[in-house]
Amino acid sequence: MGAAAGPAISARGIVKVFPGVVANAGVDLDVRRGEVHALLGENGAGKSTLASVLVGLYQPDAGEVRVDGAPVRLRSPRDGLAHGIGMVHQHFRLVDRFTVAENVALGDHRQPLLLSADRVRRAVAELGDRYGLPIDPAARIADLSVGEQQRVEIVKTLYRGVEVLLLDEPTAVLTPQEAESLFATLRAMAADGKAVVFISHKLGEVLRVADRVTVMRDGHVVGAVAAAGTTVHELARMMVGRDVDLSPRRAESPPGGPVLTLEAVDLEGPDGRRRLHGVTLDVRAGEIVGVAGVAGNGQRELAEVVAGLSAPTGGRVVVGGRDVTGRPPGAVRAAGLAYVPEDRLGTGLAPGLSIADNLQLTKRRPFFLDRRAATADARAVIDGFSIKATGPDAATRGLSGGNVQKVLLARELEAGPSVLVVASPTRGLDVGAIAFVRDLLDRRRRDGCGVLLISEDLDEVRALSDRILVLYEGAIVLERAGEAADLTELGLAMAGAGAAAATGGARP
Ligand SMILES: Nc1ncnc2c1ncn2[C@@H]1O[C@H](COP(=O)(O)OP(=O)(O)OP(=O)(O)O)[C@@H](O)[C@H]1O
Ligand SMILES: [Mg+2]
Repeated sequence: MGAAAGPAISARGIVKVFPGVVANAGVDLDVRRGEVHALLGENGAGKSTLASVLVGLYQPDAGEVRVDGAPVRLRSPRDGLAHGIGMVHQHFRLVDRFTVAENVALGDHRQPLLLSADRVRRAVAELGDRYGLPIDPAARIADLSVGEQQRVEIVKTLYRGVEVLLLDEPTAVLTPQEAESLFATLRAMAADGKAVVFISHKLGEVLRVADRVTVMRDGHVVGAVAAAGTTVHELARMMVGRDVDLSPRRAESPPGGPVLTLEAVDLEGPDGRRRLHGVTLDVRAGEIVGVAGVAGNGQRELAEVVAGLSAPTGGRVVVGGRDVTGRPPGAVRAAGLAYVPEDRLGTGLAPGLSIADNLQLTKRRPFFLDRRAATADARAVIDGFSIKATGPDAATRGLSGGNVQKVLLARELEAGPSVLVVASPTRGLDVGAIAFVRDLLDRRRRDGCGVLLISEDLDEVRALSDRILVLYEGAIVLERAGEAADLTELGLAMAGAGAAAATGGARP
């Protein structure tokens, strides 16, 4: 626990209304100096809105923010910074071509940029030492990994003297090792008497890093608990109001024959750089094969080659016994493969249609024949995913982003034929929706579908996969059975350190 325990920042009766939505409906929150305070809640519960109010990005419609007990009026993030409150957003706000030191100094109005270069460099090094944020002040942002860029964002707020740091889903983009190192930094900040607010959907890590946890639902706070006195299951229940099954799911019977095979697939980018290198794998009927890796290591390219969206420059792709190498997406689909990309909004949602009608769009039976079944299907999806909507007839136009994702996922996962390629299916979804998606994928597996699950979220890959492959710089560098996969080993392989233990891209 931290040094001082006085109040750092609190919210009293915060109300924030958007057209048609009460995002915060009278929220009270107390974050003390010396603690890491996690903020949990379902999609749309109002976490990011609250954080934006606390940092001065949004002005509340009612209620007040207090810093060390005194009410403050924050009209902008600059006001927030002046009161020692800073935020690390999920999408970094760094200038790629500038160095670390330049980015840290950028927008700091306390001193002229040119005069301070040396001081900034020293400050970056000092802060890095003190909080476990090793970073080369002279490095260019473009050359840094995502985890390193996040360190720069944190150093930037520390350099500005932040006493309260808010982080909105900071680990969504990190390897397990990077996440552990972030947690060490957050603990060091708390030990130094600062306050940290940490938003996450990953309950395990919340319990590891936080001192206290506040849970929100529907714009309200439903409770605040000490992390030491609670469990993942209790937190899940507080969030969604019912029990959630997050236990790993594996195939119950041995897989059948291969439904998807890649043989020595190469892909060269337009710049002549190799994006995929000798990728050999197969997915058999009734199994889920997980592909883990840090973003940008060829996941998207792999999915696109399989789905027919780009032609490999070498090797073969076989779907359901048919060679579809270089064939267009329609031919791949006809061979029995469905692809659910990470960017699911492009997969065809008719905003003017109801949830029920959107769910029927890709079904084989003509939907006008069976309104009652369509309505029942839609109701099951709305309940299962806890979609916030007035009912099956609600237009999808009125749904929040996360809830639109849920409708699309439900439709694509259920409609898929014999091979399903799905990218990051639960990214950004809350714990109830995660359990529902896992059930859907597990059900497809039991139906004999072969699933290629591509995800940066190792928890997701480990919870579902019968086999796990690690993709690093376009090559498969590790393969493990799902239940035998060791978190540290996977994380190291994802970071490129496991290359020595590689299976050479071939199946063992
Ligand atoms: N700028 C905005 N304009 C309109 N509605 C908004 C805006 N920001 C948030 N909302 C709505 O307010 C509600 C709360 O959103 P918020 O982003 O705070 O949720 P969250 O808890 O961060 O969810 P998630 O876990 O999905 O990130 C949602 O219904 C959302 O659609
Ligand atoms: Mg959010």
